[in-house]
Amino acid sequence: MSQQADIPEQGARRMLITAGPTQEPLDSVRYLANRSSGRLGIELADSAARRGYATTLLLGPTSLAPADGRVMLRRFRTTSDLDELLRSEFPACDVLVMAAAVADYRPAVSPGMAGEKLRRTESGMTLELVATPDLLAGCAARRRPGQRIVGFALEPRSALLESARRKLARKRVDAIVANPLETMDSATVEAWLVTGDGPPMGTPGCIAKSAFADWLLDAIEGLGGAS
Ligand code: CTP
Repeated sequence: MSQQADIPEQGARRMLITAGPTQEPLDSVRYLANRSSGRLGIELADSAARRGYATTLLLGPTSLAPADGRVMLRRFRTTSDLDELLRSEFPACDVLVMAAAVADYRPAVSPGMAGEKLRRTESGMTLELVATPDLLAGCAARRRPGQRIVGFALEPRSALLESARRKLARKRVDAIVANPLETMDSATVEAWLVTGDGPPMGTPGCIAKSAFADWLLDAIEGLGGAS
């Protein structure tokens, strides 16, 4: 099913992948973030490019980068940056794989804090957080017929499949990759693809993220409309 191609074929299917953490600034030098390395989404972008997809990777702040020069790389820092990139890149793609670890909340920073620094006081401090928009659900609401959308759910093992099914319905996407919390920042992954059709499909145990990328692309192509 996989194919090698040096240049994406004319009219090649367009794959849009997001990966890595977001950083939400508190002031000019501090931020709220998470431990995502972006490795899984980067492996996915490299594999998609090798298969001949015209591949764009939207990548958060991480030291890792794709190895394949055919991957079109665009960087984001905040949830709002990623929102903006998705608004310009999503309409033209055939498949969106949303592996980025997007913040659910950002500090309610006053515009006056840009260029400023929070100062130490002897009393404690309470941070006010505001909810960010659900970018995946937003893309699903704007999608045109034929676009495939795959999201991720990082969950404790005890609630993995149940939470993934809830996210599949709530976000109105075609599939959710359910993976346990240990996947974050690890070199390996054990995951299940949850769709509205039939039982979840699992990886053959815990596998390297590069092998997982091929497993997931095969599974996405099996959803129909992707290859
Ligand atoms: N996601 C998103 N926008 C957000 C938060 C998450 O697009 N503001 C996407 C993630 O990229 C992922 C999927 O939604 O593909 C599920 O993310 P997750 O953090 O597991 O779920 P949440 O929507 O945050 O729900 P909960 O807090 O209940 O886990």
